[in-house]
Amino acid sequence: MISCIVIQPEIMPAKPDRVAAEAEIKRLRDELNHHNYLYHALDEPAITDAEFDRLLRNLNDLETLFPDLISDDSPTQRVGAAPLSAFSQVSHELPMLSLDNAFGADDVQDFVRRIKTRLQTDQPIEFACEPKIDGVAVSLLYEGGRFVRGATRGDGSVGEDITQNVRTIDAIPLRLMGDDYPDRLEVRGEVYFPVAAFRRMNERAEARQERTFANPRNAAAGSLRQLDSRITASRGLSMFCYSVGLVSGGELPARHSEILARLRGWGLRVNPLVEVRTDARGCSEFYETILSRRDSLDYEIDGVVFKVDRIDLQQELGMLTRTPRWAVAHKFPPEEAITVLRDVEFQVGRTGAITPVARLEPVQVGGVTISNTTLHNMDEIERLNLMVGDTVVVQRAGDVIPKVVSVLVGERPDHARAVVVPAHCPACGADVVRIEGEVVYRCSNGLACAAQRKESIRHFASRLAMDIEGLGEKLVNQLVDADMVHNPADVYGLTEEALVLLDRMAPKSAGNLLQAIEASKHTTLPRFIYALGIQEVGESTARLLALHFGDLAPLLVASEQELQSIADIGPIVAAKIHTFLTEEHNLSVIRALQEAGVHWPVETPADDGERILGGETWVLTGTLATLTRDEAKARLIKLGAKVSGSVSKNTTCVVAGDAAGSKLAKAETLGVRIINEADLLMLLERHDG
Ligand code: IVH
Repeated sequence: MISCIVIQPEIMPAKPDRVAAEAEIKRLRDELNHHNYLYHALDEPAITDAEFDRLLRNLNDLETLFPDLISDDSPTQRVGAAPLSAFSQVSHELPMLSLDNAFGADDVQDFVRRIKTRLQTDQPIEFACEPKIDGVAVSLLYEGGRFVRGATRGDGSVGEDITQNVRTIDAIPLRLMGDDYPDRLEVRGEVYFPVAAFRRMNERAEARQERTFANPRNAAAGSLRQLDSRITASRGLSMFCYSVGLVSGGELPARHSEILARLRGWGLRVNPLVEVRTDARGCSEFYETILSRRDSLDYEIDGVVFKVDRIDLQQELGMLTRTPRWAVAHKFPPEEAITVLRDVEFQVGRTGAITPVARLEPVQVGGVTISNTTLHNMDEIERLNLMVGDTVVVQRAGDVIPKVVSVLVGERPDHARAVVVPAHCPACGADVVRIEGEVVYRCSNGLACAAQRKESIRHFASRLAMDIEGLGEKLVNQLVDADMVHNPADVYGLTEEALVLLDRMAPKSAGNLLQAIEASKHTTLPRFIYALGIQEVGESTARLLALHFGDLAPLLVASEQELQSIADIGPIVAAKIHTFLTEEHNLSVIRALQEAGVHWPVETPADDGERILGGETWVLTGTLATLTRDEAKARLIKLGAKVSGSVSKNTTCVVAGDAAGSKLAKAETLGVRIINEADLLMLLERHDG
């Protein structure tokens, strides 16, 4: 990268020479535009966000000294215009069309057949296949390569002028790259709210008891319709371009897919999953592939779109009133459905928590049939005003398990009955109790309750705990029911002779299981602590405890006070840990586990600051509210971490600040640990002094 002249107005004796400043302004703008393109259009950043901000500050400083050199397409000019009192109207010179829908492979076949009949051909037809982004359709107008106007679709003929708001979206270039773009170019696409950013915004709103948005599409629409563009800017919207409207003073390629590639070359963001397929079968395969990836994307899609790729054929096919004959949207199954609550049953968890589970009339939601879903706790049932027999709305958002979101109270039948917590544990018959101040009801029988034993052993063997492959729910149930395993330590006493007596357990699978059990003996302290299943001790608390104590022995003798001295561990959690570790039954299980050979390397004690994060690779993304990027980076490095600019499967942890985008999405896809700013601060405070 070319080095840049850092000009700090406050310490400069005199203004720099105007000619030099003009050249430097141009150079900085080009460099910033280039990095914006690498980041947003290609998702391949070449510099850190902090470096980008530094370049932007330098440009801003120079422009402050020479205000007459500011131009609308400068990267500094995304936010700043005064709030509007209303949006003005924009007439679309070419109408913004909508799409006909297909709801199954048969509809797609019909669509292809109609096209072939109309074109009187038997030859294969190529289709550009694209995800259908669930956002807000927007038109961008570029004149001489400069962004001059952004508009909503409105009714297709007249929309609203949202130029000021569109300018704030970093994914939209204010200036096109290259020089082969048409004089006037209207680009169309979908502005969307990235899912991770949406979730964070709603979490924050919930914490402040403010109104939340129903879904990312509503949030995107609401954000674009802000009269104050600073609000839009804070939302972290993004965009994918999918077609062109008006084009004059220049030629575009003869195929839609090539036009998209050209748009990408000019710095506009085009969806990377677009593919050209031939005929209905290829289109349906594309549909299946995208449907299977739907949950891993950082944007919501509600289907896929197939477009005849050749523009001459598009023209020949023409259009109906509002929809082109050459394109169709193959919609995904709806993510919301209505069904009936048949019953509520109660399940007993690892810590005895009695959880209500809805038994539903089976229904399709987002392509999967659901017949059960958790209702979490009795407060949730009360909040929903839910009765057995009710008609309910079930919703599935992204990768979230479907849940009951509301009750159609008007449909309540006469025979509807209230949901009542059982007085006795459904697994062992012991009393069910509710500890004051807690939301949950619990079985009072502890590990004498078979359901709790099963859950605690299943938790012990789970992937993030001891990771014993093959020891899943069904096998644990059999082992407990057959009295072969009473506690986690018994797992290490299992033999092949005993295992083969179980249902569906051949010598080979028994051998594999024993091997997995043996391998699990070599573990880590955080995993071991987590595996014990102490109430309120999740993965991250287990990690904190391991880092603080370094080994198990000092943890076993720790007082409640010492536990509370650990950042993030409050009096309730400290009490739970202390109670667990003073119960003779638990101590004897821990001793038996160690005697069976379960072991771990001693953790680097917390006060040995330098190496806490030794060997780890961390990534910072989004905006942090209380720390600068550089500061966060320096402090992580001090603790031994390597701080990288991109996420890969080797990344240990991603710190996601506000408006984190593609890196966060990638971390989610790869299953990399993600923490927020508060978690980071806690970690830094704990180890950085
Ligand atoms: S093409 C003539 N491509 O879906 C073609 N639309 O129901 C017009 N949409 O209003 C649109 N992703 O807002 C096209 N890849 C995509 C799309 C897409 C989302 C939206 C667009 C349009 C609506 C049509």
